[in-house]
Amino acid sequence: MGSSSIYAHIDFISVAALTLSLEFLICVCGSSASGLKPCDFPAIFNFGDSNSDTGGLSAAFSPPPPPYGQTFFKRSSGRFSDGRLIIDFIAEGLGIPYLHAYLDAVAPNFSTGANFATASSTIVPLRHVLPLGDFSPFSLNVQHSQFIRLKNDSSIIGQVGGLFKDLLPKEEYYSRALYTIDIGQNDIGAGLYESKSIQEIRASIPIIVSNFSANVKSLYEEGGRSFWIHNTGPIGCLPYTFVPFPVASSQIDSAGCAIPYNDLSQYFNKKLKESVVQLRKDLPLAAITYVDMYSIKYTLISRASKFGFKKPLVVCCGYGGQYNFNTQIKCGGTGEINDTKVFVGSCRNPSKKINWDGTHYT
Ligand SMILES: *[C@@H]1O[C@H](CO)[C@@H](O)[C@H](O)[C@H]1NC(C)=O
Ligand SMILES: *[C@@H]1O[C@H](CO)[C@@H](O)[C@H](O)[C@H]1NC(C)=O
Ligand SMILES: *[C@@H]1O[C@H](CO)[C@@H](O)[C@H](O)[C@H]1NC(C)=O
Ligand SMILES: *[C@@H]1O[C@H](CO)[C@@H](O)[C@H](O)[C@H]1NC(C)=O
Repeated sequence: MGSSSIYAHIDFISVAALTLSLEFLICVCGSSASGLKPCDFPAIFNFGDSNSDTGGLSAAFSPPPPPYGQTFFKRSSGRFSDGRLIIDFIAEGLGIPYLHAYLDAVAPNFSTGANFATASSTIVPLRHVLPLGDFSPFSLNVQHSQFIRLKNDSSIIGQVGGLFKDLLPKEEYYSRALYTIDIGQNDIGAGLYESKSIQEIRASIPIIVSNFSANVKSLYEEGGRSFWIHNTGPIGCLPYTFVPFPVASSQIDSAGCAIPYNDLSQYFNKKLKESVVQLRKDLPLAAITYVDMYSIKYTLISRASKFGFKKPLVVCCGYGGQYNFNTQIKCGGTGEINDTKVFVGSCRNPSKKINWDGTHYT
């Protein structure tokens, strides 16, 4: 990478927004100047929430019900979408198999990396976590501890050899791997669900981001050198925020999104970007790519018709109302409506929809 001050600015998108990011990733790596071999990542270690959970929460608790997974894996794959996630396309792009969740007890193969992300994870740990609360107990610092554990175990088992050696990353992979991180959306969302004011949520963001930053430093100290950091998407364009917490009509933008909630995402991203700039100074051997997911997702939604989508805020798998979304009767669930039992299934053609279930993208 030419310098460490590279970040992805992607201001136009294809339907698979990823394709572009991946081309970017490949071309950045291609012009190597920092001693990294061009695009030669032997492993991926991923940290995050449902945006990149490939089966973690599902392994710890229970998988999301059908129709989750119907489009690509043809079964509930533990992903909170109908199909693949961005992390899956990154893995495909790098020629690495889809990442196994670190928490997967059945037949995991971590030889090319591991995924520590779990749906509903936050950066800062919360009290009301599963199974009694709504959020994941595997916050970023817990994911980080799990990573340390895997790294230690790889080293010990690598020396012992035998059956499990080939299922763990080689020791040198830890410095050569791509470290991908996509987390923060639930720190903002949790604030809304805890009925905090916009000002209170905003005031909590600098601490949240500094905790994020401390975790990245710590991964660097463990030998991580290549980081691919997603900023957070426009949370005010997702029905799970603005349906239960509606805003005044003057607070809705031309794309139909809730301005105060998107302002929170933007403030988080401003702080995140500042912290990435600082990390580049503090971690001289690191190559840190800041990926502007906000712009990619917001462009997709605000210029939906250009990309062949209609009604970008209307949910594919949901029930009722203007947005086909109801917090009581969610995708894959059943409920009683006027004494009639309803099952919430998928829309006919998820590929024509942007929003899968009110929170996640198709
Ligand atoms: C584990 O994954 C690696 C990389 O894809 C593959 O070469 C190896 O055969 C797998 N091991 C087993 C036991 O499936
Ligand atoms: C990892 O290994 C180091 C040295 O072997 C040890 O000091 C440390 O406590 C271990 N950490 C964990 C989380 O197992
Ligand atoms: C992040 O915050 C949690 C809880 O406040 C704390 O336990 C953890 O040490 C912090 N992580 C870092 C790396 O600062
Ligand atoms: C239930 O029935 C009432 C009265 O017919 C109707 O106004 C309402 O829209 C129905 N609710 C739903 C969710 O279909």
